Amino acid sequence: DGEVYKYYSEGEWKKSSSGKTVAIINPTTRKTQYRVQACNQEEVNKVMEIAKTAQKSWAKTPLWKRAELLHKAAAILKEHKAPIAECLVKEIAKPAKDAVTEVVRSGDLVSYCAEEGVRILGEGKFLVSDSFPGNERTKYCLTSKIPLGVILAIPPFNYPVNLAVSKIAPALIAGNSIVLKPPTQGAVSALHMVHCFHLAGFPKGLISCVTGKGSEIGDFLTMHPGVDCISFTGGDTGIAISKKAGMIPLQMELGGKDACIVLEDADLDLVAANIIKGGFSYSGQRCTAVKVVLVMESVADALVEKVKARVAKLTVGAPEDDSDITPVVTESSANFIEGLVMDAKEKGATFCQEYRREGNLIWPLLLDNVRPDMRIAWEEPFGPVLPVIRISSIEEGIHHCNASNFGLQGCVFTKDINKAILISDAMETGTVQINSAPARGPDHFPFQGIKDSGIGSQGVTNSINMMTKVKTTVINLP
Ligand code: G3P
Repeated sequence: DGEVYKYYSEGEWKKSSSGKTVAIINPTTRKTQYRVQACNQEEVNKVMEIAKTAQKSWAKTPLWKRAELLHKAAAILKEHKAPIAECLVKEIAKPAKDAVTEVVRSGDLVSYCAEEGVRILGEGKFLVSDSFPGNERTKYCLTSKIPLGVILAIPPFNYPVNLAVSKIAPALIAGNSIVLKPPTQGAVSALHMVHCFHLAGFPKGLISCVTGKGSEIGDFLTMHPGVDCISFTGGDTGIAISKKAGMIPLQMELGGKDACIVLEDADLDLVAANIIKGGFSYSGQRCTAVKVVLVMESVADALVEKVKARVAKLTVGAPEDDSDITPVVTESSANFIEGLVMDAKEKGATFCQEYRREGNLIWPLLLDNVRPDMRIAWEEPFGPVLPVIRISSIEEGIHHCNASNFGLQGCVFTKDINKAILISDAMETGTVQINSAPARGPDHFPFQGIKDSGIGSQGVTNSINMMTKVKTTVINLP
């Protein structure tokens, strides 16, 4: 009942001494697809210990050699795109084509990271003392960037490969070691990805991957004294981690309630296309999904009609068939989404389609005339359900956006660039997209949330910088 996978420690694949495994349920069949090791605390201690040792010599490995290995891993990852994509289909129900795209994008990210690392880590600063009052030109200061040590990487289920390498590659190029704790749904895809790094020939112990139950090893990992930095993507757990973690740099990308503000002069076909892409791709299970449409009343009817027509064309079914809408990741997730839909129904939202669910599969649903007293106006469904709030002024839209406890991305549709810029400035989010749906990529762009959407900024360059610290040497002249 489910193929059993080992975890990765000391450059080897191992069974946990716990003798236990964790089941990974296929969201489509709702049957056990795979099993991964339920690692225990002793095994976590071991990977932390070897990660520390391996990091010391890795930091002394020439930068160009580190880059060379990353390029090799990227190529191997791309060669293995088919089996990895198959796992993504089976354990997180990602549509087949998107699953392949995730792996290819990951290979590109690793290569880009190697190149960027060579550029930005290869240079430092030289300062002289006499620019500060009271000093003669007697002190020369040399700066360089040094690694932090052991990076704990915790990616989420929706991009178990891409959001793992977006942490692993910057960490490694900067001379750090990695302990990866993949999400349960997505763990096997992540283990396959780790195998690509194994095949590339990284030193033993530099990369480890422990699987298991959060209740057993979650806090133990995040509070472990051997961890020098945590890079986490996910939900509320990130807030709990940030409260418990020690005095170490944290990079957290948490939830979002990305608003799509639509002005009267917007190209409504463009908006409708972006609402479909932004709201419904991967069945809305993206932190950067469009999660609320705030449309000016005068164009709301026309926009809703256009979106409805496109929703009707979305295919619903199995990820193997490359359906647009596939089962959401777990039954509890489907139940949560249903709870939001029922709350909106009770409070009088207009259903543009009939609500339909079979198992974890929820048909795409647009809810019109949503009001602020409905939960879905504020909470993120992480599913194919999108609320539309009609607004009578731009200020009302900005107010709704800023009243959210989230602040990841947002978007504004208008042909008036001056208005777009003013709205972007007024929106309290990490990024605002003008005339396109929110998205993290291209992966070298800065990516950050404010408020409960996280801390720190990601994107290749920012992640490399965040996973280093500045070291200075001062030459004192007589
Ligand atoms: O949900 C994770 C977040 O990083 C989204 O990425 O590429 O879908 O915008 P993307």
